Amino acid sequence: MSSWVRAHTNIALIKYWGKENEELIIPMNHSLSLTLDAFYTDTKVLFDDSLNQDELVLDGVLQGHESLKKVQVVLNRVREMAGISSHARVESINHVPTAAGLASSASGLAALAGAASHAAGLSLSEKDLSRLARIGSGSASRSIYGGFAEWIKGYDDKTSFAVPVDDADWDIGMLFIVVNDAKKDVSSREGMRRTVETSPFYDGWLQTVDGDLTNMKEAISKRDVYTVGEIAERSALKMHATTLGAIPPFTYWSAESMKAMDAVRQLRKKGYAVHFTMDAGPNVKLICKASELAELKRLLSEHFDTSRLIEARPGPGLHVLTR
Ligand code: ADP
Ligand code: DP6
Repeated sequence: MSSWVRAHTNIALIKYWGKENEELIIPMNHSLSLTLDAFYTDTKVLFDDSLNQDELVLDGVLQGHESLKKVQVVLNRVREMAGISSHARVESINHVPTAAGLASSASGLAALAGAASHAAGLSLSEKDLSRLARIGSGSASRSIYGGFAEWIKGYDDKTSFAVPVDDADWDIGMLFIVVNDAKKDVSSREGMRRTVETSPFYDGWLQTVDGDLTNMKEAISKRDVYTVGEIAERSALKMHATTLGAIPPFTYWSAESMKAMDAVRQLRKKGYAVHFTMDAGPNVKLICKASELAELKRLLSEHFDTSRLIEARPGPGLHVLTR
């Protein structure tokens, strides 16, 4: 009753921002992402009758109630589906900084969904794995797939899941400028809740998502990296604008984030097809041609320490590890 599974992080190009149903994690809007090779999570789940409670050990450290709670949402669903009652020991290694806006929750909860269901003897379809990952963390629903994935918002547990869009086997990549990899002050969960409840700009966000998504899918089908980046940058800026109207207001941007955004604009002026996106943290992710990653990294190393510049290419979907 044990299994090791690897899931890679994904970065949204059309952001998920806001929940219609907090308990089931049904989002307010559709979203679309690219799964990446550079960051991932390996998770092992063992169901064991001799345990008297569930345990989560993340990067060698036994985790407290808050993180365990998210994990237990997934474990409980798996136990219900498999008809078992044993407690589980979850061991996870994040090859990505945790809670720093680099999408550890996406790879972490997707790997958990895969490992827990496999360890319980279930053989779920990708769609059902996506639904299972979703109840742990919304963005995890998309990490089941490699390349581009769309999370169709749906309206209940059965209809809200991600689907593959394109394998991204073409000239697209991302360059991460890791401004700060410390744990953030406002989690994405708290940030989106506060924004939906209190920001007058939230309705404006919802109005343009569907149009952006349609245009994004068209740009992907044409393998047009410039337009993909342009739409993604606009989507991210609109999402981040909503946080300034929240009560109390907040922002994920730091002075370094703005320096990074400015550097991207300068590169664009020089003729590079490069744009940025940001998530619930200060780090900036560049969307560019994979073939230009090395050159862009070299140019940016004039302004940022090279150890903070990480190249990423499209990554694979969830898979079981043989060890
Ligand atoms: P991030 O930007 O890293 O996704 P979030 O605040 O959205 O930040 O999510 C971070 C939370 O996700 C952690 O505090 C923890 O509860 C959960 N998490 C991250 N990695 C794992 C993992 N490997 N296994 C289980 N839960 C994880
Ligand atoms: C800004 O998936 O981490 O990265 O569903 O509450 O666990 P929960 O939130 P999470 O939020 C991700 C927010 C985002 C945008 C995105 O990935 O689409």
